[in-house]
Amino acid sequence: MSGHGTPIPMSSAKCGPLTGTANVPGDKSISHRALILGAMVVGETRITGLLEGEDVLDTARAMRAFGAEVVDLGGGAWSVHGVGVGGFAEPDGVIDCGNSGTGVRLIMGAMATSPIAVTFTGDASLNQRPMARVTDPLALFGAQAVGRAGGRLPMTIVGAADPAPVRYTVPMPSAQVKSAVLLAGLNAPGQTVVIEREATRDHTERMLAGFGADITTEDTDEGRVITLTGQPELTPQTIAVPRDPSSAAFPVCAALIVPGSDVLVPNIGLNPTRAGLFTTLREMGADLSYEDERTEGGEPVADLRARFSPDLKGVEVDPARAASMIDEYPVLSVVAAFAQGPTIMRGVAELRVKESDRIEAMATGLRANGVEVEDGNDWWIVHGRGHGAVPGGVICASHLDHRIAMSFLILGMAANAPVSVDDGGPIATSFPIFEPLMAQLGAQIVRSA
Ligand code: S3P
Repeated sequence: MSGHGTPIPMSSAKCGPLTGTANVPGDKSISHRALILGAMVVGETRITGLLEGEDVLDTARAMRAFGAEVVDLGGGAWSVHGVGVGGFAEPDGVIDCGNSGTGVRLIMGAMATSPIAVTFTGDASLNQRPMARVTDPLALFGAQAVGRAGGRLPMTIVGAADPAPVRYTVPMPSAQVKSAVLLAGLNAPGQTVVIEREATRDHTERMLAGFGADITTEDTDEGRVITLTGQPELTPQTIAVPRDPSSAAFPVCAALIVPGSDVLVPNIGLNPTRAGLFTTLREMGADLSYEDERTEGGEPVADLRARFSPDLKGVEVDPARAASMIDEYPVLSVVAAFAQGPTIMRGVAELRVKESDRIEAMATGLRANGVEVEDGNDWWIVHGRGHGAVPGGVICASHLDHRIAMSFLILGMAANAPVSVDDGGPIATSFPIFEPLMAQLGAQIVRSA
């Protein structure tokens, strides 16, 4: 339930080399899915390395409200005793998903084929975000949704008592929508088919297979065709959550732009549907290597080593890669400011409907800090100024968006004057240890009055 507190202004100043090891928290996407799927399976699912950020804690609370027993065992270990597919109880109160689009959309999917009525709400950011992208396909199963104008939260969904399976082509690249349909399909008899034209993160598919669901993925001319057989016998699992590449992006990018830096970020999930940023950074000339590449829990993993890279060049980012780095464009735009020449980012309309309009938020803040940015509906261009040439010195609005807040704080580490954000509070949604972790590497972030 983030975004309800008093704003926490923060400021970041030029620092000496960033060095050492950055142990970033568990993957947010996988953490949500582990709790939700654990709650949908009878028996005990054990989770280690869970991200204990506000977004995920909101999902844990929601799963309790649906009748699952969710226990924090300490040290990132959690136990979930689930209620079984179709076994969700009707919650007594409103489900508050705080800042989390992933939480609310996946939970809507998970409850949509049970005969219960659930009211969802969130913070000021989440209550502005479009939900019709999820409730449209859920209506095909027989679920009914009534929300505010434009399909906004607060919203009540009445799940289908007699759900029918669905064949649905997701109109925008969205793992949340795909996952909502798959989770709804779990309690519909027969085969639910989801088609995505562009591959998005596939953690739901991988985890469903891990729990024993009959799920297949086929690459066809239509796109990725995912077929799930409903009403399966699922078996509880032990899930080790890898560390989050989207959080790793911050210390990695900071190391690339702060002179003399050399940072190791161990144990990062490098699922190809998530790792687009690192490919792009290497194309820009980043000194970024993958060490000890291995597979853990079915996901590719490596230790990332990032060193100061004085000769970064702007690039045109392959739009086909957008889904695999969608959350990383804000921090990429910061690296781009320190590169020589323009970095061109196209095919990114989805950035406008995240926790904030991320193109608008970054473009406004970068311009104020002396960086030229052009933007249109689904594209933007950052004109890099090169090392030592970003003025900084300005307070930026974070718009209740954790990634915007962290990106501007990274900017301040290499800009010529400190960069501030009006509210760093939302950082706790995904990266609660951001400040101590960056401080330990040598960054100078202060909470400013
Ligand atoms: C997520 C999917 C992405 C991403 C979000 C996490 C997920 O959203 O931006 O942070 O865990 O499925 P979309 O599905 O809207 O692209």
